[in-house]
Amino acid sequence: MNKQLRKAVIAGNWKMNKTPAEATELLGNIVPLVKDAKVEVIACVPYVDLYAALEATKGTNVKIGAENCHWAKSGAFTGEISADMLAAVGVNYVIIGHSERRQYFGETDKTVNMRTRAALDAGLTVILCVGEYLEQREQGVTAEVVSSQTKIALQGVSEDELSRIIIAYEPVWAIGTGKTATAQQANEVCALIRKVIADLYSKEAADGITIQYGGSMNAKNAEELLDQPDVDGGLIGGASLKAEDFSVIVKAADR
Ligand code: 13P
Repeated sequence: MNKQLRKAVIAGNWKMNKTPAEATELLGNIVPLVKDAKVEVIACVPYVDLYAALEATKGTNVKIGAENCHWAKSGAFTGEISADMLAAVGVNYVIIGHSERRQYFGETDKTVNMRTRAALDAGLTVILCVGEYLEQREQGVTAEVVSSQTKIALQGVSEDELSRIIIAYEPVWAIGTGKTATAQQANEVCALIRKVIADLYSKEAADGITIQYGGSMNAKNAEELLDQPDVDGGLIGGASLKAEDFSVIVKAADR
C-alpha cells in the first residue's frame, strides 16, 4: 500500500502556551486558512483551553486534542487528568509520551504504555511520541531506542486498535532547537518504526499506520519532510502557534 492511501495528519502541539482567550483567537485565525484541507488537522492544547478550543472549532474540520492523560480512571492523583475526563468534554485526540513528559516529568516506557491503554479504552485516538536523544544518535542506538519505545508503548494494544494510534517520531535533539532532522534521517526512522509495526502486527497494519515527524518542522522545511515516502504528517510545536505558518504546513501535507 502506498502513502497516498494512508491518513495524513498535521497536528499542532501547543505545549504550555495560550490562555483560553488566546486559544479562541488563534483557532479563529487557523480555521479559515485550513478549511479546505484534505488532510486531518488537529490542535493539541493545554487542558484549560479545551473548552474554548472545542467551541472555536465546532462544525469545522479542525479537531482538538489534549497533551497528556493519566492511566487511572479516577483517584488520588493530584494534578492529573484522566482519559475519561477528556472524552467527556468532547476531545478525540491525546498526545502520549512526549519527550518533554519523559524528560521533565519522569514518564517511562511503562507509564507511556499505561496511558496509551487508558486513552484507547476511553475511545480516544493517541498520538504516541517516540524519539532518541542526541547522545543516543551519536552512539548509534537510534534504532534500538525507537524500536523499544514503540514496542513497549504498544503492549496490550490490538491490531484493530492501531486505527486509533498515530506514531510521531520526534528526535529529542530536533525539538525546539531549530535543528531539523534531514528529510532522509526523518524518513529512515519513520520507515524503521513501520518495520517494527510489521513485525509486531502485520504488513497491512504497517502499511496503514500514520507516522508523523516532529522537531522544528516549519513553513520552510515542511514540504521536503512531508514528501518522504514514510513521513505521513507532522507534529508541530512552535510553528503551530502561528496561524499562517501552520496553514502552510497543512498545505504542504495536502496531496
Ligand atoms: P518544535 O516544532 O517546536 O520543535 O516542537 C516539536 C514538538 O515537540 C512537537 O510535539
